[in-house]
Amino acid sequence: MLGYRTMFIEFDPSESIDRIIRETTAKSNDFEVGFNPQVRPADERFGDFQANGILPYAKKAGLNPRELAQKLIDLLPHSDLWETDIAGPGFINFKLSSSFFKQWIDKFHDINSIKNAIQVENQQKIVVDFSSPNTAKQMHVGHIRSTIIGESLARLLGFMGHEIIRDNHLGDWGTQFGILLFAIKKENISLSELGNDPIAKLENLYRQGNNWVKDDEDNLIQARGELVKLQNGDPENLDLWQKIKDISMDSFLSIYEMLGVQFDHSLGESFYRDKVELIYEQLLAHKICEENDGALVVFHPDHKRFSKQPFIIRKSDGASNYATTDLATVAFRKNEWQSNQIIYVTDGRQRDHFEQLFMTVQKWFSAEKNACPLLKHVWFGTILGDDNKAIKTRDGEPVKLIDLLSESIERAKKMVIEKKPDLEGSEILRRAKIIGLGAVRYADLSQDRTLDYVFSWEKMLAMQGNTAPYLQYAVARIHSIFRKIESKPNQHHSTEYPPTTDSEKKLARKLLFFSGALKQTAKELKPHFLGTYLYELATEFSSFYNQSKVMVEEKEIKSLRILLCARTLTVLEIGLNILGIDTLEEM
Ligand code: ARG
Repeated sequence: MLGYRTMFIEFDPSESIDRIIRETTAKSNDFEVGFNPQVRPADERFGDFQANGILPYAKKAGLNPRELAQKLIDLLPHSDLWETDIAGPGFINFKLSSSFFKQWIDKFHDINSIKNAIQVENQQKIVVDFSSPNTAKQMHVGHIRSTIIGESLARLLGFMGHEIIRDNHLGDWGTQFGILLFAIKKENISLSELGNDPIAKLENLYRQGNNWVKDDEDNLIQARGELVKLQNGDPENLDLWQKIKDISMDSFLSIYEMLGVQFDHSLGESFYRDKVELIYEQLLAHKICEENDGALVVFHPDHKRFSKQPFIIRKSDGASNYATTDLATVAFRKNEWQSNQIIYVTDGRQRDHFEQLFMTVQKWFSAEKNACPLLKHVWFGTILGDDNKAIKTRDGEPVKLIDLLSESIERAKKMVIEKKPDLEGSEILRRAKIIGLGAVRYADLSQDRTLDYVFSWEKMLAMQGNTAPYLQYAVARIHSIFRKIESKPNQHHSTEYPPTTDSEKKLARKLLFFSGALKQTAKELKPHFLGTYLYELATEFSSFYNQSKVMVEEKEIKSLRILLCARTLTVLEIGLNILGIDTLEEM
């Protein structure tokens, strides 16, 4: 019997409840096929989980929902794992017992047991297309959101057992190269002598080039000529282009290294330049695109706006564009990598592009009788300055990512020194990096990604509230408890004594909802669900710790409380790691 019970305790308790209800109703004539228990987290005042499926089912079957709910309760096997009661017109509340809590915290005791428990049944090969800056330019703060959100979704989906391919779709084949090559040649610049901030120099050159072509038709013609030469494979231009790409990659890599982000591929737009002809041919053959003033365009007659607003897949001068390379990219990811899902992480301003891309791809794959991968656009809002406009530097320039990260580390350094003036320099820097980078990341991940948010150093570095330093402090505090008792968190495996007091039960209850937070985050592809959960867990821990002395005389109570500390630590560390936030043992 006991063996059956521990098997029965699942990482997501709502699954245990769902299963027992299904097993029970399958044996009863009152519930024919098609009954869905619909188990959800409940309002804490009434229980822990609620089965909502009775009401719609009773309605359909013409039965009295409260009577049917009672019937189900009577049929459920007797169990000391929960108490049930009927609420409202026929919801069933499940209040988990101390015994359930105890078994759950015994069972899910470390990262491996949690990881095993959260593995998806239907493993997918998922491409996460994120970061994707444009070469010859510095990464700006707009790319920070893509990098931070994309990395955390890749970590989460990987943790849940999917196979993840991280692909950095660099913008390295655009019209900017014509202007840049023109400026480089006009100024007679050698790319190996750009000084110690080569990418800033390139950016300036580009700006200068832009002014030249704006003022003078002749310059414009020359710049266009450079682009055509590049696209036709002119060795000199290709060589310059490659050098520019290398310089850009070096600067991106230093940021990725700081953020702990690594890509499996950085193929970029240029990789697809010889793969676009086939797209034109196939889309023309299937009559998905048409010629329009010399350009090739796709209309979607069944769509309100896109029946009139064209998706341009080849420009009138015959050149490919962003849409063309994106079409080729989907085909490559499906046919070469056998991926069954692609997630694109970009700014919300690209929503139309992706909507049109996805509709076009679906028609195209269906015409080719090729199974279309699931395509998802994970878009995000803008980071705003104090003035509620897109964040800018004092001279009105876009804020550079590297400056932002450096400033955060600088500010965190002051916090560390203030608290521990005697620390060694290298340790100060190590801590400042973890706190500073964590703060920037979490400021981004703790908000619903579709909202714009105001960037505030004070808020993101605060030790109180829903911030990274607050969460990191909770972790450090638990580590300090284990230092005090001269033990390690992973030495505590089980407890004889179940959570009993109010604060013990509340903390245990919060731990049980970890699976729900992970699943919701993965379903909506919104990391703030996980962030909010971790913040609530840390707050719950804080009240537990204020109310319950850990080092009490009674051995059983002490061991339970230590165990609750250890489990909270594990969940916080797993969750923060998924968000890309490092932690400290001492803060
Ligand atoms: N390079 C683009 C930008 O900076 C983002 C590319 C996103 N990925 C894609 N497959 N279109 O806005």
